[in-house]
Amino acid sequence: MNQRHLTSASGSAHGKIILMGEHAVVHGTAAIALPIPSISVTVDIFAKHQGPTELECSYYQGPLKQAPENLRNIQEVYHQVLQEWRICEVPVKLRIKSHIPHERGMGSSAAVVTALVRALATFYQQELPMTELHRYVNIGEEIAHGKTSGLDTIVTSSSQPVLFQRAEVPKSIHSQLDGCLLIADSGHTGNTRLAVESVCQRLKDTPDTQSYLSQIHDLVKGAVSALKDNQVETLGQLMNRNQEFLQKLGVSTPQLDHLIQVARHAGALGAKLTGAGLGGCIIALCPNQEIARHIQQALEAEGLQQSWFLNFNRYQSMEV
Ligand code: PMV
Repeated sequence: MNQRHLTSASGSAHGKIILMGEHAVVHGTAAIALPIPSISVTVDIFAKHQGPTELECSYYQGPLKQAPENLRNIQEVYHQVLQEWRICEVPVKLRIKSHIPHERGMGSSAAVVTALVRALATFYQQELPMTELHRYVNIGEEIAHGKTSGLDTIVTSSSQPVLFQRAEVPKSIHSQLDGCLLIADSGHTGNTRLAVESVCQRLKDTPDTQSYLSQIHDLVKGAVSALKDNQVETLGQLMNRNQEFLQKLGVSTPQLDHLIQVARHAGALGAKLTGAGLGGCIIALCPNQEIARHIQQALEAEGLQQSWFLNFNRYQSMEV
């Protein structure tokens, strides 16, 4: 048994958005996801002298054992990690500070578990190879969402855009794109588990569904070239086509469709939902910051809750 530990430690991770390919990726096709380093989560661990291990986050404070069902991913991963590392547990306080909104398709659950496992590794002075980190985060993701592609797991600990396809090694995409994305929160929560299950059901019930997934795969491949070759207009068209298929898959909503139309009329080169849908965020591709601000104002006039800008060229200056 390992007894070594520090008195406190921290771990962090960031949010993400899916540029293209969500849902289809669960069934083995490709998707592109972008890390958002400016929207982050930190988990702090403090050793306690006595009492039970506690959890503190924005909507729960108390013993980890009594945490509500929607925090079961954290509970289970915490215990699994300690068990596998053969650690004799000391009572601790786990404090989660997150800037990633919940259930908006921004990778909150994967990022929190990534930050937790990193904090535990520092606290108990354990090596944490990336493959091990990903394995733990996938355990949490399956608890949180059921069937999952594993994409969020990879991108919440990556500094670069990722091309992901299950059973293949994820690849970093070296984007040369000039332009930026506006990420706009509809203010309505999505439900990843429900959305993924509904697409699985549609695959069984509706013969055309499989062909939608293959067509999304082709759009994603086109988007990789557009990112590398700085073809911002082409990327916008591909995003719009992707949104048509997401509508056909039944994961868009009238509210998301409306916000997407508003963004396009205000100058977006392409717009679509991002993540599981049925609520959550939309993304709008903007040729420059000025048009992005104009689109943001148009969405605010429709009651938009909150939004973020993501410049593609920020990745060009970051380490791979
Ligand atoms: O909404 P999010 O951030 O949980 O993203 C879900 C993306 C899906 O493709 C729908 C599911 C998955 O596991 O990839």
